[in-house]
Amino acid sequence: MKVIVAKDYNEMSKKAAQIIAAQITLQPNSVLGFATGSSPVGTYQELVKKNQAGEIDFSEITTVNLDEYRGLPKEHEQSYIKFMNDNLFDHVNIDKANTYLPNGMANNPEEECARYDALIESLGGIDLQLLGIGHNGHIGFNEPSDHFENGTHCVTLTERTIEANKRFFASADEVPRQAYTMGIGTIMAAKKIVVVVSGEDKADAVKNCVEGVITPEVQGSILQLHPDVTIICDEAAYSKLK
Ligand code: GLP
Repeated sequence: MKVIVAKDYNEMSKKAAQIIAAQITLQPNSVLGFATGSSPVGTYQELVKKNQAGEIDFSEITTVNLDEYRGLPKEHEQSYIKFMNDNLFDHVNIDKANTYLPNGMANNPEEECARYDALIESLGGIDLQLLGIGHNGHIGFNEPSDHFENGTHCVTLTERTIEANKRFFASADEVPRQAYTMGIGTIMAAKKIVVVVSGEDKADAVKNCVEGVITPEVQGSILQLHPDVTIICDEAAYSKLK
């Protein structure tokens, strides 16, 4: 695992965007795995700037997102598809037909999970996966558990995650209780992984993922076994690492 310390959120975002931009330049038809949440917003802003400056071209890029809330329609302010359109896809020259997320409104969860896995497989897997980390060490919506799930699955969110994500909703009651998430097996099969983490409140999660025991109780700890992970932390998130 390579850990890069950035001065602050802006520097973290710039460094992450540089790596993704290099990936796009080296392989213009890359499959990029994208994440939502506050952590990657600055990275997306930097990618938009680079695209608008003509430095990178999204025309042949395909994207697959980590997760989506179950039960939120696409038009909902807090759906992850809306997040991706607002923060990235509406501002770059990507073909939206090549941007994929789990369908939060699918009638049959099992079929939806199988569909998403088959889709990722048909694309040949993920070349570069961008991740954030939850306070409990979750990646995607892979919540603390007694095992690691391989493929896409429907999860019940923990109280801590609902609490953390309620800031985006009118109240905690409005946060969906379930979500679809890519599995740990799919994330770990990505050729490269870039993680962005900032803030003192994430320092324990970073420590547990980078230096802790590898355990499904801290799903991000499995990243220690991946051959090409770069974690970009700001100084606050880095502060508890030895
Ligand atoms: C959310 C998302 C994750 C994200 C994490 C951290 O619940 N499902 O993909 O990485 O939690 O979010 P944030 O970056 O807002 O702290």
